[in-house]
Amino acid sequence: MQENSHAPRNALSPSQGGGQCKSVDATNLPLAGKRAGKVRDVYDIDAPTGACPRILVVATDRISAFDVVLPSAIANKGKLLTEISLGWFERIREWKIISDHLISTDPDLVQGISNDQRDMLRGRCMICRKVKIVPIECVVRGWLAGSGYTEYKNNGRVCGVALPAGLHQWGKLPEPIFTPASKAHEGHDENISFEQAATAVGESVMQRLRLASISIYKSASEHCAQRGLILADTKFEFGFALDMHGNVTDELVLADEVLTPDSSRYWIASTVGAGTEPQSLDKQFVRNWLLAQEAAGLWNRCPPGPMLPEDVIAKTIERYQQAADMLGG
Ligand SMILES: Nc1ncnc2c1ncn2[C@@H]1O[C@H](COP(=O)(O)OP(=O)(O)OP(=O)(O)O)[C@@H](O)[C@H]1O
Ligand SMILES: [Mg+2]
Repeated sequence: MQENSHAPRNALSPSQGGGQCKSVDATNLPLAGKRAGKVRDVYDIDAPTGACPRILVVATDRISAFDVVLPSAIANKGKLLTEISLGWFERIREWKIISDHLISTDPDLVQGISNDQRDMLRGRCMICRKVKIVPIECVVRGWLAGSGYTEYKNNGRVCGVALPAGLHQWGKLPEPIFTPASKAHEGHDENISFEQAATAVGESVMQRLRLASISIYKSASEHCAQRGLILADTKFEFGFALDMHGNVTDELVLADEVLTPDSSRYWIASTVGAGTEPQSLDKQFVRNWLLAQEAAGLWNRCPPGPMLPEDVIAKTIERYQQAADMLGG
């Protein structure tokens, strides 16, 4: 995870175009150990005596696409991502699939910050158990889209998983597939086979990750279906919990964000199956706009990305809000 030089650094500044709603493009809290991911800023925070190490995870309003952090922020996106993640953490706890890193969302538990900083954090922060992240992105695909479809068209496989002939773009796969990617420190995450991932982090770890990922995906897909949504694919991150002395344990924990429109493809179910691109409630709207920029020779997928027009920003937050509304609290 890198300090990203392409993300705007004006914390609490108004989003481009102003308006009533301010975006949080970056944070600068007086806390130790800051790491800036593409979207989240993470800090180390004190844990009560005898408790395991903790971090503060702040979902900013940054947006990344094609692994590039764009110079425009989407005001309120971080709060919606947090709200959606919290709903899923709760459901996954009910399903008893795996434990997770969430401890609290209460910024009043964070010591050493100002009241304004606390207000900024409200709704967009999670206090979490610190884990040792497994450097594998656990992708599950139930439907064929994006780079998965491109690969299937070329060689009948997705990330090394052979699929039957005759599948269509935006079509359902016979079974959800687990297609891991390496978590790159810089640049693009790279799709790898299960075997390559097993070589990197161990066969039994990968088996546990696959089982948990597929189980969550299947249960989450059912929840989505009841709410008129299709969860086409998603990406999870897991880590090994640390004990109170900071030693890595064998307890595998669901970390980071979960099943958000940043990490997943959500389609409106009634728009799927017509052979045309389904209406999506995720980043696809931004990706499609960027692809048009690329086709026009205005961008080459390298940082810095282009500024997003106001209407693209507005339509994107509308989609994230609709996803949150449809998924339910
Ligand atoms: N409980 C945790 N303990 C330690 N690190 C965590 C924990 N939860 C999440 N992280 C890490 O915090 C960072 C969150 O930043 P962010 O979500 O912006 O990630 P990223 O890896 O840059 O981008 P992306 O998620 O799009 O691949 C990630 O590096 C993630 O692995
Ligand atoms: Mg992440």
